Amino acid sequence: MGFSALLRPGTISEGWHGPLKISRLLSTRKRRRRQVKLAPAMAYSRIIGTGSYLPERVVTNRDLESKIDTTDEWIVSRTGIEARHVAADGEMTSDLAYQASLKAMESAGVGPDDIDLIIVATTTPDMIFPSTACLLQSKLGVRRGAAFDVQAVCTGFMYALSTANLYIASGAHKCALVVGAEVFSRLLDWNDRRTCVLFGDGAGAVVLKQSETPGILTSNLHADGSLSGILRVDGGISHGKIRGNPYLEMDGQAVYRTAVRALDDSAQEALTATGLTAAQLDWFVPHQANIRIINSIADKVGVPRERVVTTVARHGNTSAASVPLALDAAVRDQRIKRDQLVMLQGVGGGMTWGTILLRY
Ligand code: UT7
Repeated sequence: MGFSALLRPGTISEGWHGPLKISRLLSTRKRRRRQVKLAPAMAYSRIIGTGSYLPERVVTNRDLESKIDTTDEWIVSRTGIEARHVAADGEMTSDLAYQASLKAMESAGVGPDDIDLIIVATTTPDMIFPSTACLLQSKLGVRRGAAFDVQAVCTGFMYALSTANLYIASGAHKCALVVGAEVFSRLLDWNDRRTCVLFGDGAGAVVLKQSETPGILTSNLHADGSLSGILRVDGGISHGKIRGNPYLEMDGQAVYRTAVRALDDSAQEALTATGLTAAQLDWFVPHQANIRIINSIADKVGVPRERVVTTVARHGNTSAASVPLALDAAVRDQRIKRDQLVMLQGVGGGMTWGTILLRY
């Protein structure tokens, strides 16, 4: 279920305590009620800055041709990917996230003291714990608020941005840094041509701030764990050893079919929730996994190709980083302008998927 209803002024008046606690509070004596401080009424949130970072090293399809049994022609015709960035040895997810965050904070005009919530979407954390968000908090010199990771693979940024929006809407936090960052290259078997040609590394970030006018208009998030086997890295660390396969495995065609069906439904759900039509969308920023999936969704939803932001050719699939990377690219080259309507979409392992519709 989406949360657009929560954002209609007047529908929620209890603040963040929820109906149960409120009813108890209302039945207490006046004296006690005066002692209770409720959080501010529901607020809106809006993206006030974006940033991104790509590692220096670029691996082209031609580079891969010399190492595995593949061709540039196969990769381009089946996926649209021409090149991807790969992090240097020792360059960690939090390093990529840090660079993207600095740019997002600079473009938003905020400093470390302004941020009171950090959410990092990643499947490739620096370590098991602390979270990459906590490591990022330290690198940025942010000293307060909450910091945590979300793990929804390529849908991670949708989950992170939706979560940050709800925290801000509740009044609990005021200014969030929301990041998608990955070093997916480290989950790949570079001898497996079915998977290694598809992914890349990178990070994208946004600053989301409390606002008097709606920025995020609606969000829907979905998961179907019964499909967990079609895209996974089933390995883990247990008793000091790697248990299972530490490399990515995928049934490409099953993922493809699921993605197209799920994303079409999710886009329609977002449009219905807001009463908007596809014709009113200024931009569609989809997950960048495969140009054929992107075009298929755009056609089904009814968004003309010239309003679709694509970076898949140069970035490959950067998982949770793909949408914020593409968003930042289109903001920086001034395709996406203030007050335009933008639809973001993610889909990935879990399977998970979701859509966010926002006024930039
Ligand atoms: O974030 C979500 C993550 N994943 C996705 O969105 C991926 C969704 N799926 C896809 O994008 C596509 O299914 C792929 C791009 C992964 C594969 O494309 P396909 O058209 O479904 O190809 P296929 O898996 O059916 O493979 C066709 C042929 C096979 O050869 P045979 O068995 O027909 O002889 C593969 O072995 O292509 C072969 N093949 C390759 N050939 C050259 C697979 N990978 C390669 C390769 N280079 N890199």
